[in-house]
Amino acid sequence: MCGIVGYVGKQQAAPIILDGLSKLEYRGYDSAGMAVFDGKYIQIQKSVGRLKVLEELTHDGRTMPGVLGIGHTRWATHGAPSDVNSHPHYNEEETIAVVHNGIIENYIPLKNKLLKKGYTFLSETDTEVVAHLLDYYYKGNPLEAITKVLHRVEGSYALGILFADHPDTLYAVRKDSPLIVGKSDEGCFIASDVPAILKYTRNVYYVENQEVACMTADSLHFYSVDEEELEKEAVTIEWDASAAEKGGYEHFMLKEMHEQSKTVTDTMSPRIKDGKIVIEELGLTDEEICNMSRIYMVACGSAYHAAMTGKYVMEGIARIPVEVDLASEFRYRDPILDDNSLVIVVSQSGETADTLAALREAQKRGCRVLGIVNVVGSSIAREADNVMYTWAGPEIAVATTKAYSAQLIALYLLSLKFADVRGKITKEELTDYMEDLKRLPQQIELLMNNKERIQRFANRYIAAKDIFFIGRGIDYAISLEASLKLKEISYIHSEAYAAGELKHGTISLIEDGTLVAAVSTQPALYKKTLSNIVEVKSRGAFVLAVTTVGNTEIEKAADYVIYIPETNPFFTDSLAIIPLQLFAYYVSVGKGCDVDKPRNLAKSVTVE
Ligand code: AGP
Repeated sequence: MCGIVGYVGKQQAAPIILDGLSKLEYRGYDSAGMAVFDGKYIQIQKSVGRLKVLEELTHDGRTMPGVLGIGHTRWATHGAPSDVNSHPHYNEEETIAVVHNGIIENYIPLKNKLLKKGYTFLSETDTEVVAHLLDYYYKGNPLEAITKVLHRVEGSYALGILFADHPDTLYAVRKDSPLIVGKSDEGCFIASDVPAILKYTRNVYYVENQEVACMTADSLHFYSVDEEELEKEAVTIEWDASAAEKGGYEHFMLKEMHEQSKTVTDTMSPRIKDGKIVIEELGLTDEEICNMSRIYMVACGSAYHAAMTGKYVMEGIARIPVEVDLASEFRYRDPILDDNSLVIVVSQSGETADTLAALREAQKRGCRVLGIVNVVGSSIAREADNVMYTWAGPEIAVATTKAYSAQLIALYLLSLKFADVRGKITKEELTDYMEDLKRLPQQIELLMNNKERIQRFANRYIAAKDIFFIGRGIDYAISLEASLKLKEISYIHSEAYAAGELKHGTISLIEDGTLVAAVSTQPALYKKTLSNIVEVKSRGAFVLAVTTVGNTEIEKAADYVIYIPETNPFFTDSLAIIPLQLFAYYVSVGKGCDVDKPRNLAKSVTVE
């Protein structure tokens, strides 16, 4: 996510903004910028790179005098990292400046309309559309212009806005992206997150969706989208700075697990339009999709596990043969690819050396490569023939959660798109699938709210030596990811097994009290997995079952059951993984491990 900081008051704005942006660096970004009203004009300085570049450019803000300003650290979503794509963006006369965090989903049609009206654009961003739209509606009343823009834009936004001919007032508004307002005797502040302004005030207002904040050095007013004034209560922040960076959560991993509902929404909703799957960046014609003979999904670690699920979904719905490869294997196995093969590389960081090498190997063999990537402008994003971004925002914890969930969504959407184009599903079936997808964010939220129960169960296993995860089909893919999560943050040995394979040797490891987590979310396989549960029970295992509500039969054999809400069986990974992530997290916390930075691990493995 991007970082926003704004200030209006008695002090110089630039140093406050730079300091606030430095407190948001943990969120990850690729460029930074600032706009300050210097008494006559809005001065704008921005550049790709670290905040330090902006500090040097502005001599720590000294070259940008003024008491009203906005600043931004950009996590690129639309448009690669560059000076021109950095925020703030502004209208042609530079009398309106705006910083933005979020995704304007309908920016392309709005941009086309503005182009037809003679507007010109400098950047590739969705945000610049907002700057020109404000210009279009501005007739001297900023609040009126802002509310008119809010009626036109779709998607998520947190906006900080300056109007040159209202040099004493800072404007801000949000929808689905975080934004807070702070107030002290020195002035008013806006920020994406508490850490940015904690040094200046603990007196904070949480802005609700489409509430417009208008603030001066000593006044603060809130208005609805219909320009009615609103009364809001301030909240006093009790957190210290470290807790504030994690949004009050103990670890980034827990914060990011809680963000999964939003990252699933952010990755999905711009791509479900008017009853169709729209993946503008796909770069494949319908004919190419119809002629596709095989898909190779190539990745490492959790991204590989997401691809494992992707295989079952793509083959199950679109009926296209899929091979899933570990990138470190793919690059050396002399793969047999043909012109009608599509290679999909999946990567959160976009910098994983093995995955990047696999991408190059596929291209060397004449294959088209689609990247499913979270970091805009990363090596894989730049080198893939086409990129489908997972808009999960920066992921700080080494153990991926929200990016993994977003990868699943990208693979579901791709499968539905291909199935629709190849005529494998009816329009009614497509509608049903999309309805199930739309329910996932709220269902994820529901599961996250059940975390205390998981914590109590996890506390029983902090001394465990071996924990097994078993499942069939998609449940096997889920087991792989659950096992990795547990291993990488709790250092407990764990294995994931295709449930039907356990009896071919590994079942000899099951002893009295060994925990076996059985994932059973595929109705067609309920009975088979139930028999595997009975198998391990008879050897003394304690069985945790993760299954879909309604499958109560499993209670006859399992010792502890976690139910997930009902969804299409193809999408159960998105739900079953939630309690299993929480299980791994609480075991790690119980063991006193470094949850966010586990030993021996890096967030991105950029070496072979
Ligand atoms: C995930 O929890 C792990 N940290 C790791 O397996 C990761 O998924 C793998 O290294 C791939 O990283 P990428 O998605 O950035 O390519």
